Amino acid sequence: MALDNSMHSNVITFPSTRSSRDVLDRIVGASPAIDAVRRDIVQYAISSAPVVIHGESGVGKELVAHALHACSTHASRRFIAANVGAFCPELLGSELFGHGRGAFTGAVSSHRGLFEQAHEGTLFLDEIGELAPSAQTALLRVLESGEMRPLGTEITKHVRVRLVAATHRDLAAMVRDGHFRRDLYYRLHVLTIRVPALRERKRDIPELAAAILDRLHDEVGVRSLSSAALRVLAAYRWPGNVRQLVSVLRRACAQSSARTIDEDEVAIALMGEGQTECLPRGKSRLDATTVGAAMRASDGKIAKAARALGVPRSTLRDCLERLRDPKRSGGVTREPLGAEPSEHPSPSRSFPASSRGASDE
Ligand SMILES: Nc1ncnc2c1ncn2[C@@H]1O[C@H](COP(=O)(O)OP(=O)(O)O)[C@@H](O)[C@H]1O
Ligand SMILES: [Mg+2]
Repeated sequence: MALDNSMHSNVITFPSTRSSRDVLDRIVGASPAIDAVRRDIVQYAISSAPVVIHGESGVGKELVAHALHACSTHASRRFIAANVGAFCPELLGSELFGHGRGAFTGAVSSHRGLFEQAHEGTLFLDEIGELAPSAQTALLRVLESGEMRPLGTEITKHVRVRLVAATHRDLAAMVRDGHFRRDLYYRLHVLTIRVPALRERKRDIPELAAAILDRLHDEVGVRSLSSAALRVLAAYRWPGNVRQLVSVLRRACAQSSARTIDEDEVAIALMGEGQTECLPRGKSRLDATTVGAAMRASDGKIAKAARALGVPRSTLRDCLERLRDPKRSGGVTREPLGAEPSEHPSPSRSFPASSRGASDE
């Protein structure tokens, strides 16, 4: 692998194997922040030292871990990923280090642990901050000695594994608070990569959205986003990061049959995230288009649409009545409900014109 880059140089000679380049290309985005992540991956891939990947949930930590493996000299070996937070503490030891037959009740056969399965490859331990204290001790032992003993056996096994760990937690604070072993922290923190939150690299959103729509092609067909829709996406904070972007785009596509998804459709999809303040400027929250889109997206069910819009059911019912009869006094909207037909599709085409025609579930 030709590596001509250093942390101080912006020149990156990408690894020469096709698969590693493919995997790096799967990390979409051209912001300086994501460029720095790619540079770290290429730089650290040749080392065998542990790497800790920090970042909020959904930023792409697993993608980065996989790229580290694919760019490494042991890319032909196995990449084993495990979420240590998902195992119950009693089973974690046996999952990581394996067990012999009869090691505990129910151990009818022996089991190779994840360390052994990843021998000479990469073991990715996700959510390392969730590791129980006893497992922290056992992990430290194998990192220090390169040796482990499957539960209930007398056999010592040597394992050579590149350990990559990830967490959304502040591990240094956990050490200060006594929840994470200090010695394990230092043993792990040789190399670190910080994957920035999506809101810190919003300029990547158009490219990410296009790549995601491309990836969803089999499910949703050929789709694109209008520039106004992209502006709505850019205005959002994305607490769930890229994973949330995938889910919002999937929802927007499911709720619309249009080839080009527009701003209202994105806004409605974001409302499903409990987000109600993202409507394009100049549009009142309960105008005919918004209500229509919410009703369509909720299959005409008032309760569901009201939840999506973040308004009481009675408000939405009232609004539907007014849409049916624009002459009624008072208004929940700032815009006249009998708005320009060219701007707002006829409510009767978009959703039941009467609240009686809608389901009150
Ligand atoms: N930079 C990126 N380019 C393309 N897809 C991404 C990117 N970052 C994250 N994703 C996608 O977002 C989802 C969540 O990523 P993941 O690696 O599981 O996040 P994390 O492990 O940080 O929770 C996955 O579908 C992943 O493919
Ligand atoms: Mg993850």
